[in-house]
Amino acid sequence: SGVITLDPGYKNTGSTTSAITFLDGEKGILRYRGYTIEALAEKSDFLEVSYLLIYGELPTKEAYDKFVNDIKVHTMLHEDIKAILEGFPSNAHPMGVLSSLVCSLTAFYPESLDPNRSSDGVYLSIIRILAKLPTMAAWAHKNELGHPFIYPNNYLDYCSNFTRMMFAVPAEDYEVDPVVNDALNKLLILHADHEQNCSTSTVRIVGSAQASLYASISAGINALWGPLHGGANQAVIEMLENIKADGGDTKKYLDKAKDKNDPFRLMGFGHRVYKNFDPRARIIKKAADQVLEKLGVNDPVLEIAKGLEEAALVDEYFVERKLYPNVDFYSGIIYRAMGIPTDMFTVMFALGRLPGWIAQWKEMRENQEPIGRPRQIYTGNNERAYIPLDQR
Ligand code: CMC
Repeated sequence: SGVITLDPGYKNTGSTTSAITFLDGEKGILRYRGYTIEALAEKSDFLEVSYLLIYGELPTKEAYDKFVNDIKVHTMLHEDIKAILEGFPSNAHPMGVLSSLVCSLTAFYPESLDPNRSSDGVYLSIIRILAKLPTMAAWAHKNELGHPFIYPNNYLDYCSNFTRMMFAVPAEDYEVDPVVNDALNKLLILHADHEQNCSTSTVRIVGSAQASLYASISAGINALWGPLHGGANQAVIEMLENIKADGGDTKKYLDKAKDKNDPFRLMGFGHRVYKNFDPRARIIKKAADQVLEKLGVNDPVLEIAKGLEEAALVDEYFVERKLYPNVDFYSGIIYRAMGIPTDMFTVMFALGRLPGWIAQWKEMRENQEPIGRPRQIYTGNNERAYIPLDQR
C-alpha cells in the first residue's frame, strides 16, 4: 500500500543489509568480510575464502582442515545423477546441464527441502554442493566430448581435482600444472562474491520463499548464464574471435559499440556498480600475462583484447560513461590458455560464485528476511467486457 516507487533494474534500491561483501564502485574497492580482494587473491586459497564468506571469519587450522576434509568425502555423485547427465544430448550447453543437476540434488537429498533444517543439516547441504559442483561441471564437459567420466581423486586439492576430472583420460597419468592450479585458485577467489548482483539476488529471492539451498542455487546458475551477466565471459571470446576473423579491425567494433542504432555492445566492458577499473580485472589481467607466458601460449586474441582496451580507455564515449573492462574481459583468455572450452567459461564463473551464493542464502535465512515480492505500476487495460470467440 502507499506510493510505489519505480526503479527498473533496481539501480537505486537496496534489497537487504549484508555483512558479506563491501564494494565501492567509484573507488574500485572490493572486500570479502573486510579482507581486500588483492590480499585474498595473493595469499589465500579458494576453500579458505569459501569458509570466510560463509562463516564470516578466516578458519583456524583445525576448522580449515575439517572443512576441506568434509568436502573431500562428498565429491562423488550418486550413480543415478550420472544417468541423468547421460540423458542430455552431447551438444547441451553445460550451464543448462549444471543447473539441472544441481536441482536434481533436491531429489537425492530430500531432507534438504525442510525449511527448519538444523544447522548441522544445513552444514551438510553446504558441504555437499561445494563438493559436488566441480564433479558435475567436469562431467558436463566430458559428456559433451563423449568421453568416459573421471571420478574424483580425494588425495588432490579442490582445484587440482577439478582440473584432473576435466582433462585426464582414463589409464593415463595426469599431472596438474602448478601454474594453472594457482591461476585457477585466483580466478575462483575473484569470482567468489559480488554482493547483490543478478544471480545472487536471484538466489536470495528464491530462498526467501524458503526454497531449498539446491533449488535456490540452481536458479542462480540460470541467472548467471545470461550474456549480460556471467555469460559475458563466453561472449567476450566469441567477440574477440569475430574481430580477428574480420581482419582485426578494433576501431570498426568500437564504432559499432558506440552506435546507438546497433545493438552490439563491447562485451566485457561496463558494470552496473564499478564506475572505475574493476579491481578484479586488474588482478586477472596480470595473471593472464603470467599464465600465457609460463605456458608459452601466444594467443592473437590477447593482442586484440589489449588493442580494444587501450582504444576504449581513451575514447570519449567510454570515458564519459565510465565504461572500464570488467572481470569477464580477461578471464576468458586465461581459461582458453588452460584449455577450457569456451562454452565452459560461465561454468567456471559458477564454480567461483558458489560460496558467495551459499553465504548470501544463509545470511538471508538467518536474518529471517521476508519473502521477496517487488511491486509494480500497472499499465494495461482498464476493465473490459469479455467477447465470445465466435464474435471476435
Ligand atoms: N558497450 C557499449 N556501450 C555500453 C556498454 C558496452 N559494453 N555498457 C554500457 N554502455 C552504455 C549504454 O549504452 C548506456 O549508454 P547511454 O547512456 O548513451 O544510453 C550507458 O553506457 C550506460 O549503460 P547501461 O546499460 O544503462 O548500464 P547498466 O548498469 O544497465 O548495464 C552492463 C551494465 C554490465 C549490463 C553493461 O555495461 C553491459 O551490457 N556490458 C556488456 C556485458 C558485460 O560485459 N557484462 C558483464 C558484467 S561484469 C560481471 C558480471 O556481472 O557477470
